[in-house]
Amino acid sequence: MSTQDNSPTYVIDTLIAEDIDAYLEKHQHKTMLRFITCGSVDDGKSTLIGRLLYDSKMIFEDQLASLEHDSKAVGTQGGEIDFALLVDGLAAEREQGITIDVAYRFFATEKRKFIVADTPGHEQYTRNMVTGASTADLAVILIDARQGVLTQTRRHSYLVNLLGIRNVVLAVNKMDLVGYSAERFYEIVSDYSAFARQIGLEAFLPIPISGLKGDNIVTRSQDTPWYQGPTLIEHLETAPVNDTRMQDLPFRMPVQWVNRPNLDFRGFAGLVASGSIAPGDAIRVLPSGKTTTVKAIPSFDGDLSRAVAGQSITLTLSDEVDCSRGDIIVQADAPCEVADQFEATLVWMSDAEMLPGRPYLLKVGTQTVTATVTEPKYEVNVNTLEHLASKTLGLNAIGVVNISTDRQIPFEAYATNPDLGGFILIDRMTNATVAAGMIHFALRRSQNIHWQAVDINREAHAGLKNQKPAVVWFTGLSGSGKSTIANLVEKKLHAMGKHTFLLDGDNVRHGLNRDLGFTDADRVENIRRVGEVARLMTDAGLIVLTAFISPFRSERRMVRDLMAEGDFLEIHVNTPLEVAEARDVKGLYKKARSGQLKNFTGIDSPYEAPEAPELVVNTTTLSAEEAADRVVELILARR
Ligand code: ADX
Repeated sequence: MSTQDNSPTYVIDTLIAEDIDAYLEKHQHKTMLRFITCGSVDDGKSTLIGRLLYDSKMIFEDQLASLEHDSKAVGTQGGEIDFALLVDGLAAEREQGITIDVAYRFFATEKRKFIVADTPGHEQYTRNMVTGASTADLAVILIDARQGVLTQTRRHSYLVNLLGIRNVVLAVNKMDLVGYSAERFYEIVSDYSAFARQIGLEAFLPIPISGLKGDNIVTRSQDTPWYQGPTLIEHLETAPVNDTRMQDLPFRMPVQWVNRPNLDFRGFAGLVASGSIAPGDAIRVLPSGKTTTVKAIPSFDGDLSRAVAGQSITLTLSDEVDCSRGDIIVQADAPCEVADQFEATLVWMSDAEMLPGRPYLLKVGTQTVTATVTEPKYEVNVNTLEHLASKTLGLNAIGVVNISTDRQIPFEAYATNPDLGGFILIDRMTNATVAAGMIHFALRRSQNIHWQAVDINREAHAGLKNQKPAVVWFTGLSGSGKSTIANLVEKKLHAMGKHTFLLDGDNVRHGLNRDLGFTDADRVENIRRVGEVARLMTDAGLIVLTAFISPFRSERRMVRDLMAEGDFLEIHVNTPLEVAEARDVKGLYKKARSGQLKNFTGIDSPYEAPEAPELVVNTTTLSAEEAADRVVELILARR
């Protein structure tokens, strides 16, 4: 390999081909630093990363091959590559990669190995930036010296700080284009300091650089004699990695899987998130709270005498306690908190805005639960750091919300332990990740409100009525015939001596839900409340009929999940839009068409038809009476 400094061409590290042992020996004892580059679109990320790869002279052959394959822009001749072509190749590859995730580049110097997460600067890719930053030890925030501190600089700095990266480099790039002006450099540093102080970013290292010319990246620039600090690579080579702070905290290990090859062995595998553990240590399994001791820490190299944060291990326990994926094994006398309501910061990453009250999947550590989010307490304006009142969060918005989960989960504040306090929200219908979140603390009320056990329970109520409670959920367009059919069904059941109650959209909206309109968020809340009320009524032993448009699959599913299997009957009143519109019983379609009524279902607000309802009734082929008979049959057929 080439070792000459300032060499104009790039040379591949060929040691791997010549002497694999020497190659491995050379690299395996080096530490690894993970960092992220971020900043606005034209701040020069590709050039900077190209410069690091190029000047460190240790890009690896496989990576080069992939660049060549992807872009055709990188020419290699006898192991030499042109800098400009390398940068083009990186940019082209990132453009292709942005829709998937983050491009990770690997390079090394004599002192250290590096993985750099290369994320696009466009605002719509904030999610990629969050993904890249979530595993980084350090962040390089790039600024174009001509532009100074921009919105994206602030947004990315805010996120970097929020995600707990404490080592921040402010790389003031394109110094060549401002005549290497010390004055300009310090002006930007002072601007940035003011912002950093506001967001609680305690320290950062400013470096004047030029990615294009290579100033202060690997070699010290002749043009910035006024700058005495380290070059970028010097700083990257010496910045602390493998934060040992986590090892000093109490032991926590989210259980990834249970390893049970035979009846005699039961091992709990996972990554130690914090602390350390040794055979004989007392542990507690959360959320159940059961305690026992560690029997052994078996590994391929024999039993370990101790394991620490950052290691993937398997534990065997002295007693047969219940413990499965999603549980957390913690130090017995220093357990973490368990709760089902939290305050958290959310970074919203989806085009579809956040809907308070809608159930999302929440993944924290190794567990996945169902969670709903309240209206934001406030949204943060990343420019001014003002707290804005907001009903929802749109793409890239950052806000503080309360979250409640359907189960108690063991957790820790993100600031203490990112592994146990960082989470993502997933849309249950599309499976897309819609937000990244950080838990602040549990809401006290979640610990103070307990479920009150009552003696006269659901079974007692239902038994006296001699019936099996159910929710019969009619869904369909306005004017489809839901209320008419539900009303007939109720009359028929009543005549049979059944105890029923009909909740109807128009009626409920005059009372309980008087405060709600027809935005997506209000419809979600409408159905959430109706679902809870319907469930309470089944606890009273009733057969509950509901007639709401209930246009979203997510919320119908939420109500289904509130009920026991078989106790929720979804009836799709399937009347085509043209037919409902032609009937126009309440004259609302006419108003909607003329623009007098906004957000009207089927016109300018969506209706998501059920995918697997218990029954579909087609009101163009069945009379209301016939439809009602089918529904009654379905209700009575349940065992
Ligand atoms: S839902 O979408 O939230 O389930 P819900 O069934 O409670 O709606 O209320 C629908 C009824 O409200 C309709 O039958 C209609 O009479 C009335 N309505 C008034 N404005 C609208 C609108 N923009 N979209 C749909 N229905 C409306």
